[in-house]
Amino acid sequence: MSKSPSLEDITNLCIRRGFFFQSSRIYGSLSGFFDYGPLGTEMRIEVLNSWWDFFVRSRDDIVGIYGSIITHPKVWVASGHVESFIDFIVRCNRCGKEYRADHLLEEKGIMVTELTQESLIKLLKENNVRCPSCGGELSEPEPFNLMFYVSVGPKGKSSIPTYLRPETAQLMFVNFKDIYVSMRLKLPFGIAQVGKAFRNEISPRNFLFRIREFEQMEIEYFVNPKKMDECPYFSEVKDVKVQVLSAEMQEKGRKEGREMTIGEAYEDGIITTKWHAYWIALSLKWLIDIGLSPKRLRIREHVKTELAHYAIQTFDVEYLFPYMGWKEIEGISNRSDYDLKRHQEYSGKDLSILDGEEKVIPYVIEPSFGLERIILALITDSYNIISNRLVLSLHPKVAPVKVGVYPLVNKEEFVKKAREVYRMVRQRYLSIYDESGSIGRRYARSDEIGVPLGITIDGQTLEDNTVTLRFRDTRAQIRVKIDNIIDKIEEILSKWDEYEKLVRVEASSQ
Ligand code: GAP
Repeated sequence: MSKSPSLEDITNLCIRRGFFFQSSRIYGSLSGFFDYGPLGTEMRIEVLNSWWDFFVRSRDDIVGIYGSIITHPKVWVASGHVESFIDFIVRCNRCGKEYRADHLLEEKGIMVTELTQESLIKLLKENNVRCPSCGGELSEPEPFNLMFYVSVGPKGKSSIPTYLRPETAQLMFVNFKDIYVSMRLKLPFGIAQVGKAFRNEISPRNFLFRIREFEQMEIEYFVNPKKMDECPYFSEVKDVKVQVLSAEMQEKGRKEGREMTIGEAYEDGIITTKWHAYWIALSLKWLIDIGLSPKRLRIREHVKTELAHYAIQTFDVEYLFPYMGWKEIEGISNRSDYDLKRHQEYSGKDLSILDGEEKVIPYVIEPSFGLERIILALITDSYNIISNRLVLSLHPKVAPVKVGVYPLVNKEEFVKKAREVYRMVRQRYLSIYDESGSIGRRYARSDEIGVPLGITIDGQTLEDNTVTLRFRDTRAQIRVKIDNIIDKIEEILSKWDEYEKLVRVEASSQ
């Protein structure tokens, strides 16, 4: 039996078991900042490594960079963020509380289709929206830039005011020409980066979902504008199926999408270029690969008024959170040549490159993943109650700990053997050793943090050097020779989805 968790269930688990903590809690915390705890830190590394392997290391056409967080302020003028990276804020005239205008309307069930000052003023007035906290009158919405200001250098005339980066993307545009030349790249090619981004969100909320300091995993994939429909890998992904909610469907008032393949979404003209369709499909493949249920994923196109200042078409990959509904975990935009052209204009440097004989400023498709939102989705997706016990059924690829080692009873010969096995296993896999409390409690503790496999040293181990290997989700057990244990774990973890089904048969026929 499984139960849909509430946001409180997820938050409690994450804090209680050391995945995340509210940052600087002993001083009362700052809203929108979280620290990764020991298990969250390991999980972060697993998700990042899986992403990097899948999108960068396994491909010849993508290279990675690791750019600085603070850059020349002109980067953000050229990128359009100084002018356009805004949300609208309203203040209560009575209690002084501040709110994001569109969120306030959405919470009242009022659809916001146009994010302009005029339309927000109109909607707030028409619906007589007041302060949710004290019922006071609200100010008119004002634009609020989400970038954090910083000052570089000693105070005084020589200090330079700039911003913390609100997206990692710009570093890939400003370094574009140097990367192209130094790596002798040929179109089409991509640049990838993982790193922190900072946004001074008006109302951070929903645990990790909307925070002020978070990590992005982004790719800028550059293509000759005339070749946006020439994607040699398209046939590999065109059959990926997903629920699609197009802009047109939304404009007709539809809330639910239609299931179709990515190939069909392209043929029907919903996704307008093949390269864009390819990157949407590949993103979905990776998200499913690390354990998200395909049924809880959909793609939703941005309606015109929602598009970011740089985008000509955007699809969000949304995950169906049981406690928030469909929410964005990744955005995939066609940014055209907007960024490179703007940086060329503001820097005065030629950012065109050669595609054969042709001089071009490439178009860019940008898959942009939010790490914390993906971790939140993974933990939510794998939160199960089985026989009244919490089991976090994380895919082994992203589970922070892969193996638990336990002596069945706390007696010297069992403990000695168990520690021996633990020393061997931990050289290869992140493992835990636990000898305290009953074996049932130890299994329960490890199930709660998603440890896929447990090794138990029992009486038979001392006779024939075999151990039991326990599967987290099915609780099935098989016996394995200690000499073979590493190979067996390797095989099981690499074929996890097949193995979980297989092992039930194997274990029950013993
Ligand atoms: N470079 C494009 C870009 O930054 P975005 O849709 O603003 O696009 C990309 O952000 C992803 O970053 C989102 O899909 C989301 O996963 C994550 N993200 C954005 N704002 C966030 C926030 N305040 N807290 C947590 N994650 C956030």
